[in-house]
Amino acid sequence: MDLLTELESLIPELQKGLDQASSLQDMEALRVDFLGRRGRLARIMAHLPEAEPAARPLLGQTANKVKDGLVGLFEQRKTALEKAAEAEELARFDAGLPGRTPQIGSLHPITLVTEEICSVFRQLGYSVVSGPEVETEYHNFEALNIPREHPARDMQDTLYVSDGVLLRTHTSPLQVRTMLSQKPPVAVVAPGRVYRRDSDITHTPMFHQVEGLLVDKHVTMADLRGTLTAFMRSVFGSDTKIRFRPSFFPFTEPSAEADISCCMCGGKGHDHDGTVCRVCKGTGWLEILGCGMVDPAVFEAVGYDPEAYTGFAFGLGVERIAMLKYGIGDLRMFFENDMRFLTQFA
Ligand code: PHE
Repeated sequence: MDLLTELESLIPELQKGLDQASSLQDMEALRVDFLGRRGRLARIMAHLPEAEPAARPLLGQTANKVKDGLVGLFEQRKTALEKAAEAEELARFDAGLPGRTPQIGSLHPITLVTEEICSVFRQLGYSVVSGPEVETEYHNFEALNIPREHPARDMQDTLYVSDGVLLRTHTSPLQVRTMLSQKPPVAVVAPGRVYRRDSDITHTPMFHQVEGLLVDKHVTMADLRGTLTAFMRSVFGSDTKIRFRPSFFPFTEPSAEADISCCMCGGKGHDHDGTVCRVCKGTGWLEILGCGMVDPAVFEAVGYDPEAYTGFAFGLGVERIAMLKYGIGDLRMFFENDMRFLTQFA
């Protein structure tokens, strides 16, 4: 057979093959056989140099036409097969089957409680601010009336990053940052992570606090009490009572620790059959936060006039509030990422 006839016979032969092909795999085998690098067309073309020089132009033209023809046949058949496959899949598709529900995560209890605290204070007109976790000694200590060598620095075991730079041991540096950047009156809460060199059953080296600060003319301890009472009632229920015990912080004067009536036993110290309440250990009270009136020395450090302004500040531990609110007995639950624990807050 001469080359020309051989070339022209490719088209009907492929047509025959395609008529029998029933899958995309069959098609691919045919494509390799006809159009592949060592396929039939290529093998015929390899003989082109042996043909009479005068016959070569026609052979070349025919080869191109045959090649286009082959490709066209493939495309046609492929579209038809794809359509058939799609129709088959649609026929199998059951629109009545229930879908796969994606697993949706939930907020961490610490996030939930932080949000709740901030939202109560937002409703009271406070803004929410934040600041760096890597702090300067100046913002964390000095401006808060805790000079170097002051024994109060031992109250908190500090993790230092470098000389004069540390991981903040409380959110109180936000008092300093807020007052340095805003003129009074100010009303802010500042949630965030804090760090202390401390680790046992009831202490983790990182935990969460929310700081509160209100500065204006004529702010008194009564405002502090009223604000904290409103806040505690909103988080722990409207029967919650609050009491202050004198305490000490270098950046507040006077300073106090606030207790709330036990949210477990309602302040009675025992449950109905007389067993001692394990949450408040029978005292009826729960220690909940540190607070006080902003010390004039802090106002001086940030350039506020201590004769014109007064203010209160408080700092509370979010883990502690979350444990009391949700009845969680073990602090470590917050940090273990146990799904059985976390999914309960969805
Ligand atoms: N910063 C104190 C602490 O971490 C709490 C506090 C904040 C006390 C504001 C008084 C005023 O213990």
